[in-house]
Amino acid sequence: MNGISLPVIKVKMVVVGDAGVGKTSLAVRFTDNSFIQHYKQTVGASFCSRTLDFKDKTVVFNIWDTAGQERFRSLVPMYLRDAGIALVVYDISSHKSFENVESWLLQLQQYGPRDLKCALIGNKVDLEDDLREVPTQEEDGVSREGELLAEGHGLYFEETSAKTGEGIDKVFNDIGSVLVEGC
Ligand code: GTP
Ligand code: MG
Repeated sequence: MNGISLPVIKVKMVVVGDAGVGKTSLAVRFTDNSFIQHYKQTVGASFCSRTLDFKDKTVVFNIWDTAGQERFRSLVPMYLRDAGIALVVYDISSHKSFENVESWLLQLQQYGPRDLKCALIGNKVDLEDDLREVPTQEEDGVSREGELLAEGHGLYFEETSAKTGEGIDKVFNDIGSVLVEGC
């Protein structure tokens, strides 16, 4: 019996952000449903892919997971060519990685395609509350930094944990739905 195949949308996704924020871990969680505790820096970039079925279309996410280390920054523009989606990732336990989001956004603006869709991801939400340096809920007068930055730039925003998987499916389902609706 022949199966009925759905129309396919292929999207090139580029993941950027500071070293150690969990870009590789997010990509591995989504494509392999696994997690590696041990930090192994990405050299240059790595590629992985996963297909998700939506109601009447299939989306192939071709993911370029770039290296956050300073010495690899000059390579990022090359990966941004023809990209459809960029994920800018920070670590909710590193305010520095959050402060650097603006400079990553600038790189996307400078080198990414004009119609590049961007999403902001605050990763490592599984960590203890007292390790959190970037608040997202307005509590005790502390502002919702992650959400506010995303709102200011008109970006999709979600907090995730590559370790537990929290939020990951939602990010890809939400992004996929937007792509499917836009076609
Ligand atoms: P570069 O390749 O150097 O740019 O780093 P990266 O952004 O790819 O970070 P990577 O995914 O290698 O993760 C860095 C470290 O953070 C590793 O030790 C991971 O196990 C850990 N890590 C990643 N995501 C999470 C998370 O959601 N929660 C926790 N607790 N640790 C995480
Ligand atoms: Mg990496």
